[in-house]
Amino acid sequence: MPTLAARMSRAKPSAIMAVAEKAKQLKAEGRDIVSFSIGVPNFLPGEHVYAAVRDALAKDSGQYGSNRGADALLDAFLHHLEGTGLGGYTRKNVAAGIGAKHVLYNLAEALLDPGDTIAFAVPYWTTYVDIAEIVDAKMRLMPCPASQNYKLTPAQLDAALPGVKVFLFNNPNNPTGMVYTKDEIAALADVLVKHPDVWIVCDDIYNRMVFDGIGYHNFVNARPELRERTIHVDSISKTYGMPGWRVGFIAAPEKVAQAFVTLNSNHITNVPEIVTAAAVAALAGPQDVPTQKCAEFQAKRDQVLAAMNAIPGVVCPRPQGAFYVFPDISCAFGKRHGERTIANDVDLCDALLEVKGVACVPGSAFGEPNALRISYTCPTAQLPEGLKRFREFFAELK
Ligand SMILES: Cc1ncc(COP(=O)(O)O)c(C=O)c1O
Repeated sequence: MPTLAARMSRAKPSAIMAVAEKAKQLKAEGRDIVSFSIGVPNFLPGEHVYAAVRDALAKDSGQYGSNRGADALLDAFLHHLEGTGLGGYTRKNVAAGIGAKHVLYNLAEALLDPGDTIAFAVPYWTTYVDIAEIVDAKMRLMPCPASQNYKLTPAQLDAALPGVKVFLFNNPNNPTGMVYTKDEIAALADVLVKHPDVWIVCDDIYNRMVFDGIGYHNFVNARPELRERTIHVDSISKTYGMPGWRVGFIAAPEKVAQAFVTLNSNHITNVPEIVTAAAVAALAGPQDVPTQKCAEFQAKRDQVLAAMNAIPGVVCPRPQGAFYVFPDISCAFGKRHGERTIANDVDLCDALLEVKGVACVPGSAFGEPNALRISYTCPTAQLPEGLKRFREFFAELK
């Protein structure tokens, strides 16, 4: 009997999807479930996106396209980058892929040989570990618990970087929702300058979802000399409510962008024409939908944070972006809910789902077993009910 490749024993199905599946099953059984589990934005793009798609359908060539991305798509992304505060890139610096996930896989293949080391902060987006394992890279994890607001410190980064090939940074962050301030970015950038052999990959896909007026900041603006080894990753998934359309991007030094295009030519060939039209319209068209959604998310963040702060023992750093809240719920460990013992985050999420019908993702999926992730993109009307049940659950612990 032939065997699967060894790398498949390292690849694991997504822990986040496991919670979502269980919640779906309970719903199908007629249970009233409030889902705080998956990180989908839960809104649709503006009508102008659909209008662009209808136009494109009428003109579709049905042919293969550019491995880098159509010129119109590259230009729309360059325009979007400028709006994000990242000017100075040309078509030769950018390329498109099938969502940020594919983009990150491409980068891992382009930058890491087996045995090379990739460093990133914990909590992390789960896929970072899976990607590192599939390309057989070593991981250097930098623990950032709630006591340090889930943020990486300059000293921690400085100590971790020797021997590292790629530093992967996610800001605004999934799962914590934390956003680095201008000063924090500048301090980390000063450290990065001291480690010239490290590639810097910035997964910035939530960069348009920043609250409280703190803005989105990046290493390249803080220390321009970092541009030659920094790669920005972006996507239309979260900002424009288009996760299923599957379009992601890089802005990078030309050499990296070219390697990325070579990989595209062997993996995906091109982003399809109709999808390209949708992405161009989203990036270059009116920005009312993302602007309005960002304001809505900020108001929902306030509601979730107020609920967390009202639960004795729960510690919840204040997120300022994306659509996640990541409370430290370790105060519940060792307690009981009815017949159930809550030994850890997985027990807690299981009990919360079974007893109260509220689905959250255990923090261990993100490398931080003291916490759980609440994704608050559910319909606005469901949020108070879900939070009420969450508080009741904690009040009933003995
Ligand atoms: C931090 C982060 N990076 C990348 C992605 C992947 O996004 P895409 O839908 O563009 O593949 C996600 C999706 O949840 C994410 O949270």
